[in-house]
Amino acid sequence: MTATLSLLDHLAARGGASLHARGRPATAALLNELPADTRCPVLEVGCGTGETAVQMCRRSVRVVATDVSTQMLRAAQARARWCGVDRRLQAIRVSRDGSLPFATGAFGAVVVESVLAIQPDDVLPRLVGEINRVLQAGGRALVNETTWIPGTSSGMAAEINRRAAGSVGLVQATLSPFDAADWVEMFDAAGLRLIKTLRVDDVATDREGRGRRSAVVVRSRAFTIWRRLRFVLAAGGFGRSRQMSWVLADLAPETQCLEGRLFVLEPDRPHRGG
Ligand SMILES: C[S@@+](CC[C@H](N)C(=O)[O-])C[C@H]1O[C@@H](n2cnc3c(N)ncnc32)[C@H](O)[C@@H]1O
Repeated sequence: MTATLSLLDHLAARGGASLHARGRPATAALLNELPADTRCPVLEVGCGTGETAVQMCRRSVRVVATDVSTQMLRAAQARARWCGVDRRLQAIRVSRDGSLPFATGAFGAVVVESVLAIQPDDVLPRLVGEINRVLQAGGRALVNETTWIPGTSSGMAAEINRRAAGSVGLVQATLSPFDAADWVEMFDAAGLRLIKTLRVDDVATDREGRGRRSAVVVRSRAFTIWRRLRFVLAAGGFGRSRQMSWVLADLAPETQCLEGRLFVLEPDRPHRGG
């Protein structure tokens, strides 16, 4: 089926940020689960325009941000420069086949927000297996993905995905795994043991509003606003934004069958020396 619009291309051009369920509060809850050791390198899979990656640069010595889209990676690099953290961030383009070009055990944490649920059936198990492989023993995979609410019929989910793929070039969520319990089973089969899971709706709304925002976070917000303005003011930008808003509004009622979930996972192998 040919998509009339590509949501991801649109968001890359517009510099869209927090492109996952429950946005910034969900990211704050997820990053709260990062390992305490700030020396361990962190990998983000599917970084988009880099909002989460630059935030992680505040506390981790080295952040590697990957994406399949050159345009997303360019935006992530521009954001890191704007925020003054580009020396800590390495942006790397990866293949769509789910393989990760990193050594086994290279990372203390892998962060993934709204990437796994849009993978084709043959790519998802490979990508999850790769996330497990590149984690150190004792490391953590921190995942925010969209799942189907139990009780949703598979026929209805397939129809919702067909409509979304037809209008914006993306499915809403994988059919297999389907609900949160299936996701836990899939992670387990790949060697990632569940520490905890939480519905994003149960994350406190004020979560990332607590305390003083760091300069990096403030600059990153300014970058997002500037990119959006630049896009809207460019020739045709306003019209394209309006068209995308209508399409998304049309798909919105169907998201009632979906719920965002945070998964905190660790590789099912002994810690070094343990
Ligand atoms: C919905 S966006 C989420 C972006 C970002 N994580 C966020 O939450 O703002 C999905 C991102 O994953 C990227 N992506 C899709 N498949 C990927 C893959 N196999 N490996 C790495 N990135 C991928 C897309 O290009 C896009 O930037």
